[in-house]
Amino acid sequence: MKKYIAIALIASGTAAFAHSGVKNPDVMNRMMGMSELAKQMKVIGTMAKGEAAFDADAANAALAKISEEASYIPSLFENKATDPKSEALPAIWDNWDSFTAHATELEELAGGLAGTIQAEADLGPAMGQLGKSCGACHADFRAK
Ligand code: HEC
Repeated sequence: MKKYIAIALIASGTAAFAHSGVKNPDVMNRMMGMSELAKQMKVIGTMAKGEAAFDADAANAALAKISEEASYIPSLFENKATDPKSEALPAIWDNWDSFTAHATELEELAGGLAGTIQAEADLGPAMGQLGKSCGACHADFRAK
């Protein structure tokens, strides 16, 4: 299992940060899903801050990817898996409908924004809306 996790981490191109040392594979998978969301947000965020050249296609592709990844959230959390390193609150499984509604909201928001980025000035407002959507779910369902 350790080997599989190491390969998955390399394949996803994400650094092991918060999820290093996680032993439960379901917990690991949902953390990887979240990391993918963060990775795509960074694509847009670095452009918004002027740290990367503006690329409308890349920004729209990142938004589409966020929407797709958000659609996986319910299945990634379906199993009430735990791990000492997990920040998932038990409230997720007590308020499943509310939790999945947050996932759907992000999926629809990002899906609606995908394709609308035409100028650099579009990035900030999109980031703002997305950040609120991530934050709304984290506020209720992720330990701080
Ligand atoms: C439907 C609820 C929900 C939405 C929407 C959501 N998250 Fe999360 N996120 C969680 C939960 C719950 C955890 C804790 C998972 C755990 O530790 O087991 C988490 C954890 C994370 C982590 C830490 C991953 C790790 O390796 O420990 C990152 C980064 C993250 N989310 C980024 C995002 C970003 C960026 C967005 C928006 C684009 C987002 N999340 C949207 C619920 C959500």
